[in-house]
Amino acid sequence: MKDYEPVMSFGEDVAKIYDEVERGDEVEAVAFLAELAGRGTALELAIGTGRIALPLAAQGIRVDGIDLSPAMIAQLRAKPGGADIAVTMGNFADVAVPGTYRVIYVVFNTLFNLLTQDEQVRCFENVAAHLTDDGYFVVEGLSPAFFHRLRNDQYVDAEVIEVGEVRLDVLRHDMATQMIEESHVSLTPAGVRLNPVVQRYAWPSELDLMARIAGLRLKERWAGWSREPFNSTSANVVSVYGR
Ligand SMILES: C[S@@+](CC[C@H](N)C(=O)[O-])C[C@H]1O[C@@H](n2cnc3c(N)ncnc32)[C@H](O)[C@@H]1O
Repeated sequence: MKDYEPVMSFGEDVAKIYDEVERGDEVEAVAFLAELAGRGTALELAIGTGRIALPLAAQGIRVDGIDLSPAMIAQLRAKPGGADIAVTMGNFADVAVPGTYRVIYVVFNTLFNLLTQDEQVRCFENVAAHLTDDGYFVVEGLSPAFFHRLRNDQYVDAEVIEVGEVRLDVLRHDMATQMIEESHVSLTPAGVRLNPVVQRYAWPSELDLMARIAGLRLKERWAGWSREPFNSTSANVVSVYGR
């Protein structure tokens, strides 16, 4: 997508409505991450509005975060407990935080917001440097198999059809480059609003190699936070890496 910059995807407009519709996996995700964290600390890469970090912190776990969007972090700060979370502003691939964590996690397809293989590998390497010896790196997102089942490598999905708004999700897939170009298009009497997102997905096997490059190994792989078995029909992938 010509002229696209990742920072365009999470501005004021998106941040304001981000929490209106829950993804629905929050309870299970928090239980999974809390179990891994035990009495240790956690770091969320791309913490956003705190959808996962806040309920995790409410369990008595110290959760720090990294994000590049001031608008998303403003939403986090406005929520109960949001002011107590330490957030580093910047690219999560750098993992520019002091110290080590028992759990570092990146969820909701967000690892794929790093748009090159190099940057994703760099992220794994920097995460490894900030994990305790018994620490875990948890990566959650959709299975790329979904894109390979698309007819003509693209779709238009009617997300909202209401009297005052029609919202379309428009997506195109490039199998050779593993790139996804997408825009959420809102049509209202006030005008048209575009929300572009570009992602570079990686197959689970590629994630495992990135982990190896960083000195980590796959410990667990599931199709969901409730430890559903992962197979070729799974929509989602939860991968847990450690030393
Ligand atoms: C889909 S939201 C996920 C937020 C949160 N993790 C959740 O599950 O609700 C993606 C978040 O990633 C952040 N983000 C995207 N690319 C980033 C990058 N390279 N460095 C830091 N944050 C990034 C965005 O600002 C946004 O807050």
